[in-house]
Amino acid sequence: MCGIVGYTGPREAGPILLDGLRRLEYRGYDSAGIALVTHAGELFVEKRAGKVAVLTDALGGEPPTAGVGLGHTRWATHGRVSDLNAHPHSDCTGRITVVHNGIVENFRALRDELAAGGHVLASETDTEVVAHLVEDAYKGDLADAVRSALHRLEGAYALVVMHQDEPDRLVGARLNVPLIVGVGEGESFFASDASALVAYTKKVIFLADGDVADIRPGTAVVTDIDGMRLERLVDTIPWSAEAAEKGGYEHFMLKEIHEQPTALRSAMAGRVRRGGVCLEEIDPIRDRLANVNRVELIACGTAYYASLVGAQLFQDWLGVPARANVASEFRYSPPPLDARTLVVAVTQSGETADTIAATRLARERGSIVIAVTNTVGSAITREAHAAVFLQAGPEVAVAATKTFVTQVLTLVMLAADIAQQLGRRTKAEEEELVVALKALPEQAERAIELAGATEEMASRYAEAAGFMYIGRAFGYPAALEGALKIKEISYLHAEGYAAGELKHGPISLLDADVPLVAVATRSAVYEKLISNLMEGKARDARVIAVATEGDKQIEQFATDVCWVPDTLEPLSTILAVIPLQLFAYYVAVARGRDVDQPRNLAKSVTVE
Ligand code: G6P
Repeated sequence: MCGIVGYTGPREAGPILLDGLRRLEYRGYDSAGIALVTHAGELFVEKRAGKVAVLTDALGGEPPTAGVGLGHTRWATHGRVSDLNAHPHSDCTGRITVVHNGIVENFRALRDELAAGGHVLASETDTEVVAHLVEDAYKGDLADAVRSALHRLEGAYALVVMHQDEPDRLVGARLNVPLIVGVGEGESFFASDASALVAYTKKVIFLADGDVADIRPGTAVVTDIDGMRLERLVDTIPWSAEAAEKGGYEHFMLKEIHEQPTALRSAMAGRVRRGGVCLEEIDPIRDRLANVNRVELIACGTAYYASLVGAQLFQDWLGVPARANVASEFRYSPPPLDARTLVVAVTQSGETADTIAATRLARERGSIVIAVTNTVGSAITREAHAAVFLQAGPEVAVAATKTFVTQVLTLVMLAADIAQQLGRRTKAEEEELVVALKALPEQAERAIELAGATEEMASRYAEAAGFMYIGRAFGYPAALEGALKIKEISYLHAEGYAAGELKHGPISLLDADVPLVAVATRSAVYEKLISNLMEGKARDARVIAVATEGDKQIEQFATDVCWVPDTLEPLSTILAVIPLQLFAYYVAVARGRDVDQPRNLAKSVTVE
């Protein structure tokens, strides 16, 4: 949700900022802009509605030479999409520029106050007030002025400020929105996430809420909002710049689908052993886990569907009530939360505002919080008592794929580990799970191979009026996720339903133009699923079935079959979703959609 990048150092700032913006574009892409203080000491600003490519064209490929600058790619919240509302924003003198991600909640009051004080605000954004507040507070030291301005802001922000008169310096701050500092050899960076700067440095500081960072070439000083110096560790990014490149694939999404076997392997590394599963990250809180009598999972979007699998397993394996909750609804009707409640916050980015807010509430009420996330140093890791990482590597496509399968896998491992600790599962059950887990990466490879036919299939279904996805038990989250993929990237309407509910309303949508997609892998509910599939066929709907290799009868009921290898039911969601991801991908490609950056979406949603 908006990407920020900043640079100060001996290299050309313009190309570094544009490269960073391209890498951050998945966070928001309705407008983009950069500001530079040129070697001649002049301020240069260019900003455009549209994608980063529009900005690059406007620059004619050659931004002015400069050693310092900041850039922004926007996902609009306040103010429509226009050149004027694009960031950076400036003060009245035109010497101060600001980029911002988040929402200044009291911006109306601040705008009125600033206007009454003689300031002229040019845009409709909340961000612009920051530039004018810094202008009022500036007495020759940018960091002091920014800290003073921050005292006036309510809401959430990651922001970076530059002053034309201090041309080697940038000042950034964060509150509830991510911002990191990159520390290179004689150069320094700001970025919303590591993908923007890993090509230049792997040394980063994950700023904490309330931090203000003052960077100059090769140095970074972090203080609190009152100027008190803070010590912050320098972390090393564990992946390479190539990991965030397309690597020969046409889209990031396709690359990330193909990375799933590796991602599953990596998520299990060091965690799955002969005797069972062990996640060392939860060792420090094992005493508290011994008393758990309820589990609440909190998540949004794809992570919520992964959490549905987690909830089934916590309930089955721990024998306590467990529920998956949509994070944005959680606070309106929270369940009883106390010290015996285990809350599992599942979030790829670790920055989703709704998930963080819900988790915070649970923590305030004394619950034990475990974060399941892909992002080291993210906000959720600070809210949680323990964080378990997906280890999936960077995911760039807006539509989540490899982080879905690794979320499901990590929740399987977490539930198994805690159940084992509490003695709720037999040794034989554990051993059976370990065997199935070890086979999973190769089976995912096989599922990708078997899904080769989805490209041709998609061409026959790309003009459908909509889709109905159904599943039961562990097939249900796969159906929901499959429907979400279609919606997100092809803009076709798709419903995901518990198969038993089909007859209670949605069946009326089925006809020759609305195919039924059924997750019908081998399971205890297989026969019931077949009945639902036949209900669809009887209404002239074309039927696509995801079925287990070797199933001899499914072809008589389905128009098309996507085969997946056999596995334990709790792991079946992981394999079943693979052909559905590829199907959605090829439908979107056939419809000419922008697969990696679908309209209206952003990968990381840092507003509530
Ligand atoms: C956005 C993304 C989704 C994602 C959801 C939750 O809406 O477009 O793909 O599932 O946020 O993100 P999180 O980072 O919390 O998993």
